[in-house]
Amino acid sequence: MANTIAILNFKGGVGKTTTAVNLADALRGYGKTCLVIDLDSQCSSTIILDSEKEVESTDTIYESMKDKTLAPLCIFEHSKGLDFVASDKRMGDIDELLVGRSSKEHILERMIKPVKDEYDYIIIDCPPNRGVMTINAMVASDSVLIPIDSKFMSLDGLNQITEKISEVKNDEFLNPSLKILGFLLTRYNQNLRIAKDVYNALQSKFPSQIFNTKIRENTKVSEAPGYRCTIFEHDPSCAGAEDYLQLAREIGGIKPGTKWK
Ligand SMILES: Nc1ncnc2c1ncn2[C@@H]1O[C@H](COP(=O)(O)OP(=O)(O)OP(=O)(O)O)[C@@H](O)[C@H]1O
Ligand SMILES: [Mg+2]
Repeated sequence: MANTIAILNFKGGVGKTTTAVNLADALRGYGKTCLVIDLDSQCSSTIILDSEKEVESTDTIYESMKDKTLAPLCIFEHSKGLDFVASDKRMGDIDELLVGRSSKEHILERMIKPVKDEYDYIIIDCPPNRGVMTINAMVASDSVLIPIDSKFMSLDGLNQITEKISEVKNDEFLNPSLKILGFLLTRYNQNLRIAKDVYNALQSKFPSQIFNTKIRENTKVSEAPGYRCTIFEHDPSCAGAEDYLQLAREIGGIKPGTKWK
């Protein structure tokens, strides 16, 4: 049964997509089968993982969700062990489409159910908002991973996320067993005072819930999407690749020194 992780932050540009695709590729290299589900109308993880440009607009999650009789997920293979479900720009209108649909918070959970046994990890790349898809991701997941941009302190934003998680947990019809997997510092530059301030603020508010791994600011990481590839396809020896391998080991309980390919 797949461990399902929602990569979530209501704020844009904090490293959700970067973490979704690179964590999945890191876990794949350690022999774990992964499915990435893109829920964002910007389609950033679709663009990276659909490197062969195979996906047509009829193959996206929007198509599967649009009718009340849900169609099965349309799953593509990026590489052996790493599959993905594509998004399309119409996902920007999904909240309006689902107005009045019963159990609309459970759509993704129902769609994932038939494939849960086929993967070790299902990683959901959420849109940067509090819309119906983000709630669907929280309902369908075992836990949430919250990337935090180390260059920007937003305790207010953090409170909004943890309040929403509590709301979902406290509702027996949503997901009482939802957990916070951890807060992940991204774009971390240890020479910047703001990075240390963000870390200290997180540490005092959520002790023991911050990943030991910090994802360093790394030019190669920012370049990779432009080539439609993960960091491991772009430069497997850079600091960004090293950090995402460490994160995969931390999440997967994988021993350092384990072979990766
Ligand atoms: N460790 C890093 N080093 C350098 N650049 C990074 C790093 N992580 C992310 N970026 C860059 O920061 C930008 C935002 O990252 P990303 O797209 O992953 O954020 P996001 O939270 O998914 O954004 P959105 O909410 O818009 O979907 C991208 O250009 C990405 O390449
Ligand atoms: Mg994104």
